[in-house]
Amino acid sequence: MSTEKTLILIKPDGIRRGLVGEVISRIESKGYLIEALRMLNADRALLEKHYAEHVGKPFYEPLVEFMMSGPIIVIVASGERVIEGFRSLAGVTDPTLAVPGTIRGDLARDQGTKVVQNIVHGSDSPESAAREIAIFFPK
Ligand code: RTP
Ligand code: MG
Repeated sequence: MSTEKTLILIKPDGIRRGLVGEVISRIESKGYLIEALRMLNADRALLEKHYAEHVGKPFYEPLVEFMMSGPIIVIVASGERVIEGFRSLAGVTDPTLAVPGTIRGDLARDQGTKVVQNIVHGSDSPESAAREIAIFFPK
């Protein structure tokens, strides 16, 4: 039996604000297993692959600039239904609307920036998870 895996990013705002431990703790407390973890400075080419679906959208350039504004932490976590489970832990994209109790709802807010800064990324489907894990952890 192969357990489902997802790709999680702690974005530069999460690191700047000292929330790495808090985010990892929420993942582990929920019962998911940390399978792999690395810290890196993403460059434009890497982000273009990761955010391929968003290339050309109005928020794409601000998003890339934000994601290059500091290091990120890349995590592979596993567990039954971890993809939807982590999306649930993270809360919706807009931190103003994210429900309290979620990572974004508890720990983020609108900062008036060009792109919303919302601490974490989580894969949104099994196809995205496989694609994103291969980008950040090439065999
Ligand atoms: P993520 O991919 O980071 O887990 O977030 P998500 O699925 O909730 O949101 P998605 O639509 O995939 O967008 C990726 C990231 O782009 C920024 N964004 N800004 N209208 C906006 O200002 C806007 N829309 C998206 C956010 O940082 C979002 O997490
Ligand atoms: Mg997304």
